[in-house]
Amino acid sequence: MSDIINDLKWRYATKKFDVSKKIDASNFELIKESLRLVPSSYGLQPLKYIIVESKDIREKLVAASYGQSQVKDASHLIVICAANQVGDQEVNQHIENIAITRDHKVDQIKGYGDFMKSTIAQMTDQQKKTWNSKQAYIALGQLLHTCASMRIDATPMEGFDPIAYSQILQISDDYSPILLCPIGYRDQDDETQHLKKVRKSQEHIFEKK
Ligand SMILES: Cc1cc2nc3c(=O)[nH]c(=O)nc-3n(C[C@H](O)[C@H](O)[C@H](O)COP(=O)(O)O)c2cc1C
Repeated sequence: MSDIINDLKWRYATKKFDVSKKIDASNFELIKESLRLVPSSYGLQPLKYIIVESKDIREKLVAASYGQSQVKDASHLIVICAANQVGDQEVNQHIENIAITRDHKVDQIKGYGDFMKSTIAQMTDQQKKTWNSKQAYIALGQLLHTCASMRIDATPMEGFDPIAYSQILQISDDYSPILLCPIGYRDQDDETQHLKKVRKSQEHIFEKK
């Protein structure tokens, strides 16, 4: 079987982490770099990742996560946040980054920036917020596979109260927490690891035209 399929079959949404096992610093750096390389619409990267280290804070977050203990027991807790807004300022910053990275003059790519600005200007504030939050799911998918390929366990999580998280983590008004991903190592007693994967068949999900 290919390495990719092995990775994807190895992983599962971990319910119980081994509290004694920590991800070492070099592996965590690799995970951070994977998140930095996440693709996004127009490349605007509207995401921020909060790494919650404090044990006290993580204890408090359990109640804001419907009692799910992974948020305190995993080696690391990553909170994926998305910007609430996007507009000319973000486009200008992105254009500058492209110019510096690719050794262009800002003027050479101004047209691309104007195109982005005009498309974004047609969106309502709610549409912008939704658009940004969708980018978080791309990051989550990449994070899950990166972790699996490193044999690091992870739990994709939507089950939390974003308002309580914003308060506890003092997240700025510019960002909203969208997803959680505790990562670390499974507890040998976590029965979920032995369950068969439940997925629809290929016939159900693929359609040829
Ligand atoms: C966006 C998203 C949100 C999820 N939220 C939670 C959650 O809050 N708590 C949890 O234990 N599992 C959560 N899951 C895990 C799913 O239940 C799990 O991925 C699914 O049942 C498939 O099982 P597998 O990941 O073990 O293959 C979530 C998964 C995704 C993709």
